[in-house]
Amino acid sequence: MESDLIKIYDAAIKQIEASNSLNDLNQLKSKYLGKKSAVMAFMKKLGQLPQEERPAFGQKLNEYKNKIYQLIADREIKLKELDYKKSLETDTIDLTMPGRTFQRGSLHPISRTMREIEDIFISMGFDVAEGPDVEDEFHNFDALNTPQDHPARDLSDTFYVDKDVLLRTQTSTVQIRVMENHQPPIRIISPGSCYRNENDASHSPMFHQVEALVIDEGVTFVDLRDMLNVFVKRMFGERIESRFRPHFFPFTEPSAEMDIICVKCYGKGCNLCKGSGWLEMGGAGMVDPNVFKIAGIDSEKYTGYAFGLGIDRIAMLKYKIPDMRLLFENDLRFLKQF
Ligand code: DAH
Repeated sequence: MESDLIKIYDAAIKQIEASNSLNDLNQLKSKYLGKKSAVMAFMKKLGQLPQEERPAFGQKLNEYKNKIYQLIADREIKLKELDYKKSLETDTIDLTMPGRTFQRGSLHPISRTMREIEDIFISMGFDVAEGPDVEDEFHNFDALNTPQDHPARDLSDTFYVDKDVLLRTQTSTVQIRVMENHQPPIRIISPGSCYRNENDASHSPMFHQVEALVIDEGVTFVDLRDMLNVFVKRMFGERIESRFRPHFFPFTEPSAEMDIICVKCYGKGCNLCKGSGWLEMGGAGMVDPNVFKIAGIDSEKYTGYAFGLGIDRIAMLKYKIPDMRLLFENDLRFLKQF
């Protein structure tokens, strides 16, 4: 039997040494060591040998098997070296080919606007505060002095997640969270996403607001008006004037809505401002003493103002975007312009 093995081994040496490609070598590997190879057939025959001959022959068999393995491994290294040398001789590199280009991303217009707003307020001594998008009814409505039967609580306006859990409809929630954890002086803004059940060219179910809250001794409505005036001029340019109209919000008293002079026609009246010469910017007011009481701040000692502005609206005016839906469709042709 051993002579058969030697024959097989001799044939293997010849063929392996003569193989010229990795493909051929692979075929030889299965021919000599695969399941159906002659060497494996010997393995099966091992059981038929007399008991006392088995160990010695088994050892021989393994020896030859390992030798063939080694031959193949050595040849493989050789062939790979030859392949590499050949490729060095034949492959050429065209140095005039253009390099690989990669696409650079850019900031979304909303992110850009948010950062710009943050920069303006940070430069005036404000901190940036954050609150959760998924809120409880207490922070979104109760603590903001919103009566139980207020229409804003309605299912048709607010996305409820659970009985008392909802997607915040306004960033005013963060006012409460800040007051719960800090005593005055407080001076924060809080930009973030809000959610309401509405969807058209100027409303999106997900939109962005920036909230501001300033509390200290002796803060007045004049401070509020000055601050907003400074902000709109920094944001839209020195020519921009603002005005306040009386309004109602449950969490401020007195409350107002702020308009700025139309950024397109500067008050003459155009299609952007629908002929009025003014554009709505957001709501503002002096923090209602009821809110102070709920949040645990002494309303005899402190006064404060708050305002909330629509970031998407500011971005649309700043970058002349005609339809709010463009901001959230993620169309690269649109986004690439920023
Ligand atoms: N949260 C109000 C809204 O979404 C906006 C607002 C009004 C915020 C008055 C305020 C405020 O902080 O004082 O319509």
